Amino acid sequence: MSSGSSQSGLHPAIEKILSRSSTKKFADTPVTRAQLELLLTAAVRAPDHGLLAPWRFTVLEGDSRTLLGDAMAAALREKSPDADRELLDREASKAMRSPTLVVVSAVSQAHPKVPEIEQWVAVGAAIQNLWIAAESLGLGVAWKTGSHAYNSSVKKTLGLAPNECIIGFIHLGTPVTKGPLRTADIESRTRWL
Ligand SMILES: Cc1cc2nc3c(=O)[nH]c(=O)nc-3n(C[C@H](O)[C@H](O)[C@H](O)COP(=O)(O)O)c2cc1C
Repeated sequence: MSSGSSQSGLHPAIEKILSRSSTKKFADTPVTRAQLELLLTAAVRAPDHGLLAPWRFTVLEGDSRTLLGDAMAAALREKSPDADRELLDREASKAMRSPTLVVVSAVSQAHPKVPEIEQWVAVGAAIQNLWIAAESLGLGVAWKTGSHAYNSSVKKTLGLAPNECIIGFIHLGTPVTKGPLRTADIESRTRWL
């Protein structure tokens, strides 16, 4: 085994990437401030064409998660006026599925060399960095979007600018249950020229 390798013989960083899966259920234990700062630092080390730092992070913990939960329930009520209390409560509870939630958004700008899509992709890369760093700390992660990510009232409640796009609601916490590992199909998706 080479130095820095784990029992599988793979480098621990590669092993983390290969074993990543979404967390389905989180324990209540909050993510610490030091952990969050490390994760955000990992996020902003992502590749960034033009060094535009298009990412923005909004951290919700404890009671502040209800801000988002209430906004999501209100968005549902607007879309489906017949939704009953049980449905609305279930919608609001989605913000509480993990003790810590980082809303990752993108602010893109007109740039002569960096098209908007590259700025969004950089934010996706930042989320992936954050994810792998979180799993390396023993934390679980879930990346959600859904219609609320594109809802202007939800964005306003979070204090986001009208031109800011939510790229992910990133749930973080101690994992209780995780999803299965997906098959890694490179064959049908790769052309070897
Ligand atoms: C941009 C983006 C948006 C996503 N939005 C959702 C979502 O709204 N709900 C959800 O359950 N998962 C969402 N996911 C997570 C994927 O569904 C998840 O990664 C996929 O089911 C594979 O599971 P795994 O992460 O365990 O491999 C999203 C992932 C990405 C990259």
